[in-house]
Amino acid sequence: MAQITRIAITPGDGIGPEVVAEAVRCLETLRAKHNLALEWTRFPWPSHAWHDEYGESWPADALTQLKAYDAILLGALGDPGPMDDTNRYLLPDSISLAPLLDMRKGFDQWVCERPARLLPGARQYLKDDRAKDIDMLVIRENSEGEYVSQGGRLRQGKPDEVATQMEVFTRRATERIIRYGFEQARQRAGERVQEGRTRAFRTLDGRSCESQVCLVTKRNALRYWGDMYTEVFEEVSHDFPDVATHHELVDAACMKFVQCPWAFDVVVASNLQGDILTDLAAVLSGGMGVAPSCNLNPTDPHMPSMFEPTHGSAPDIAGQGIADPTAMLFTTARMLDWLGRKDPKLTQAGKELFDAVAADLAEQGNQQRATSQIGDAICKRMLA
Ligand code: IPM
Ligand code: MN
Repeated sequence: MAQITRIAITPGDGIGPEVVAEAVRCLETLRAKHNLALEWTRFPWPSHAWHDEYGESWPADALTQLKAYDAILLGALGDPGPMDDTNRYLLPDSISLAPLLDMRKGFDQWVCERPARLLPGARQYLKDDRAKDIDMLVIRENSEGEYVSQGGRLRQGKPDEVATQMEVFTRRATERIIRYGFEQARQRAGERVQEGRTRAFRTLDGRSCESQVCLVTKRNALRYWGDMYTEVFEEVSHDFPDVATHHELVDAACMKFVQCPWAFDVVVASNLQGDILTDLAAVLSGGMGVAPSCNLNPTDPHMPSMFEPTHGSAPDIAGQGIADPTAMLFTTARMLDWLGRKDPKLTQAGKELFDAVAADLAEQGNQQRATSQIGDAICKRMLA
């Protein structure tokens, strides 16, 4: 039997535990069916409940404990809901969400990968039917940029207060995220060819390529990192003559995501710009209920990667058992695929889960069902 793969499960707050419960049922189903060497441990932290009891979102050695796992599967963090419980234990977002950022930083999860593909059955927000061809992968730089959390407040609360928030961009992190983008573009093109699907993207010199990387910056205003990104993009592109290159300013990228999202393949963006673009991309591919997200460290196998849906804790519907677990399950499928690096049987299990979730979506569309009903249907499908 393969070496055991261990997952840390951190359900978090709000609908987090509700959607994670369905992910665990799917993992149990797959483990039993394929005799997978898979184990998991459920952690009551990070969470509001833990903070309520101990005065902190998680124990001081949380990162050390989590480091012993191969991956982290996270539900959601933030307002635990339900909204009508006016006595619920609330915290500022900057406190309840801090563990998410600490994990990204602490485990150097330098890639945030957010695929946006409009699958059959998902809600189509755009009227134009070409929206059915939306199939992009937004790669967000996840280790630095606008999220370095350096700065401060001077003369706090005074009329002459000054707040500074630094942005830091290094050539090293720029190079690795751009290279990763090109590698993904090439890999996606290969997968498409295998599935008998092709796409065509034009290069500036008029050639046609199977794949494309679009770099997003705001280099007309934020020129220092914008220029460095542009130069590195140009340099790295020489190693990928089979991949077409493109650039958009972030404001124009927002416009084109709505106008012609089917024209994008791989998109590489900075931490904050990628954050904003991926909420938009999520809606283009059916909404937050179906959007997966992965925080990856592709370079250090001793660091766990973290998998969380793009959505939050949804306090408005928490506790009602009606949250859609689809995004969580797509995320779980990607986690299994990722863990396939260690145990190839897990890649197969991930594919099976993805196919079952996609088939359920195609059949049931976005009709309102209970969280557990969706989980039931997907488990049943995997056992059929
Ligand atoms: C996300 C979220 C987080 C982010 C917040 C909760 C800090 O919006 O994962 O997209 O900005 O990265
Ligand atoms: Mn976000």
